[in-house]
Amino acid sequence: MILENVLNMLDRNHARRVSKLSMSLARQLGLSEHEIHLIGQGALYHDIGKIAIPTYLLQSKEKFNEEEYRLMQRHVEYGLSILSVHTGEEIEAAREIIASHHERWDGQGYPHGLMGEEISLYGRIVAVCDVFDALCSDRPYKAAWPVGKALDYIKDQSGEAFDPRVVEAFLQMMAEGVAV
Ligand SMILES: [Fe+2]
Repeated sequence: MILENVLNMLDRNHARRVSKLSMSLARQLGLSEHEIHLIGQGALYHDIGKIAIPTYLLQSKEKFNEEEYRLMQRHVEYGLSILSVHTGEEIEAAREIIASHHERWDGQGYPHGLMGEEISLYGRIVAVCDVFDALCSDRPYKAAWPVGKALDYIKDQSGEAFDPRVVEAFLQMMAEGVAV
């Protein structure tokens, strides 16, 4: 089961797309080239903890019940645990992103229910790109959304799931035709 998860993760297309999009968004927000690099590397790891989540959950076509949702949320702590003994700036960025990519601007996210700028900027950037890419991709439980519908969703979640400033930059970047 875990081996199957590891092999699934070798198809790293989602992680690569989120990484690329996050770098473009960081650039749009005016971050330094060094930080853009760190976000790009860190974003590759954002869901690495999912290798410890049961395959049936990762491939479920059904809406999660409460217990399944709680189990899925644990990919954050598993990811942090996997990288816990590694050192270096890129791994630091990865840990920051793993820890924060499911927090929400309105404080309703996990694992800590952080709010607004309490959430790492790297995490706020990756959160938008992660959700956008997931919406635009086929998943076991849904078909890919058209880009326009996904953009409407991101816009709609400004100030709720996402940092309004990050959403604004994201929409502007997309309007300018950067990296879809
Ligand atoms: Fe995640």
